[in-house]
Amino acid sequence: AATPDLAGRRVVISAGGTREPLDPVRYLGNHSSGKQGYALARTAQARGAEVTLVAANTALPAPAGVTVEPVGSAEELRAAMRKAAAEADAVVMAAAVADFRPANPVGQKIKKRDGVDPDPIALVRNPDILAELSAARRPGQVVVGFAAETENVLAGGRAKLARKGCDLLVVNQVGGGLAFGTDENEAVILAADGDETPVPLGPKEALADRVWDAVVRRLPTP
Ligand code: C5P
Repeated sequence: AATPDLAGRRVVISAGGTREPLDPVRYLGNHSSGKQGYALARTAQARGAEVTLVAANTALPAPAGVTVEPVGSAEELRAAMRKAAAEADAVVMAAAVADFRPANPVGQKIKKRDGVDPDPIALVRNPDILAELSAARRPGQVVVGFAAETENVLAGGRAKLARKGCDLLVVNQVGGGLAFGTDENEAVILAADGDETPVPLGPKEALADRVWDAVVRRLPTP
């Protein structure tokens, strides 16, 4: 069994990918499977944490002993994360949040009309939830983000860590079949305190455990 080094700790994790509505039946979305977030939830639960998993549009079985809160859009994910984060010792944003959403979602299904071109879709920015949670963190709370980069992984990751204001940023190189939808991941865990921990290609569960190791080291003693 895992060492219960998260016993007595509350953690909240987001997983999956948001869907931004265009009308009641259509959305803008992404291919995130939620596997890394679920692996974080399972491993935290195994290490003794009380776990809330905010799951955006995932099709994975709820991990035993974990509270799952399903959400759809970035706005819903934001509300669920803010609420759970207010009571949490650690917050992990593993979800793929849409950067933009349709500016004018409509209440009725958009119809096609003969001979009429479709309207363009206007987009507006979504809030950066990770940056907000970092800015609002409770004393001693550890905030973790994820970032998929295709080039300049370390330099880009450091800049993003600073921009978001989180304590840890898990940076993985995407492309070449890695990350989305697969069971394996390879990453570097960057810390605001300067630490840099490479995690070799392996199961998402193994990366999750290295993330919790880094979190545990930074939590204040209870
Ligand atoms: O800026 P980028 O999308 O690369 O940052 C990725 C990290 O920021 C992830 O942890 C993701 O969950 C989070 N994020 C967020 N709100 C957004 C976009 C990304 O919290 N609107």
